[in-house]
Amino acid sequence: MRKLLVIVVSIFTLVACTSKTETSEPKEENPTQISQEQTNPSQDNDSTGKGLKVLLINGSPRKNGNTYLALMEAAKQLEQNGIASELLQIGSGPAQGCIACNHCKKTGHCVFEDELYNRAYNLMSECDGIIVGSPTYYGQPNGTLLCLIQRLCYSASNLMQNKPAAAVAVCRRGGATAVYQTLLMPFQMLNMPIVTSQYWNIVYGRDEGEAALDEEGLQTMRTMANNMAWMLKKIHNDTETPIREKEHKVTNFIK
Ligand SMILES: Cc1cc2nc3c(=O)[nH]c(=O)nc-3n(C[C@H](O)[C@H](O)[C@H](O)COP(=O)(O)O)c2cc1C
Repeated sequence: MRKLLVIVVSIFTLVACTSKTETSEPKEENPTQISQEQTNPSQDNDSTGKGLKVLLINGSPRKNGNTYLALMEAAKQLEQNGIASELLQIGSGPAQGCIACNHCKKTGHCVFEDELYNRAYNLMSECDGIIVGSPTYYGQPNGTLLCLIQRLCYSASNLMQNKPAAAVAVCRRGGATAVYQTLLMPFQMLNMPIVTSQYWNIVYGRDEGEAALDEEGLQTMRTMANNMAWMLKKIHNDTETPIREKEHKVTNFIK
């Protein structure tokens, strides 16, 4: 009888130990799964995305090209989060660059009030966030897009401050990181929170539509859009705005 009791106690102890080991051992986690869960706040928050709009600027003259495709992937994901988007195509018209006349500093508008500029300015005032995409041309962003951005930089600075912004670069093979960084520069001097992703916002493709094959690039777009949605909802659910000094000091190195 005593022997039997010892056997029963031993079995019980063994079972208890085994089950404890099972539950206390850390579960192997799938990093992709985790990042998706963390970056997709949609289900709980969908309703709070209502009324929010993101401006998408396609800096490619190819209307339905790879940049468009990348931006549309982000737009679909924003929509999943309850956030609308509006597309501005820079088109293939002539580009007017900044002429350093300082007109915008006096009036808040560029001296050249062409249709593209006015449309971009109006859309910027209406939007809550912005995604600017460009193809890579000789390791640089498209020139027409750069001309437009430079003319908007000062005049739209008050409209754009505190609005989350993301850049997207598209290329066949190389130079996209330079494009990506160049596109980020204005955001970084206009008090705009930058929206990042699981990787740099770069999508690969040469011929029209080829970017649809870049699975990682498209996932990067979706993650960026989820991050944008999350940030927008946080910002719009909060009444606090950042503290800034009234006088913006402007100096150079000799005076
Ligand atoms: C004038 C020109 C210059 C280009 N320069 C580069 C380059 O430097 N690096 C690269 O990887 N792709 C380069 N490309 C390829 C484009 O970036 C690529 O085709 C891209 O998908 C175009 O985007 P889109 O379809 O939105 O216009 C160039 C294309 C053109 C038309």
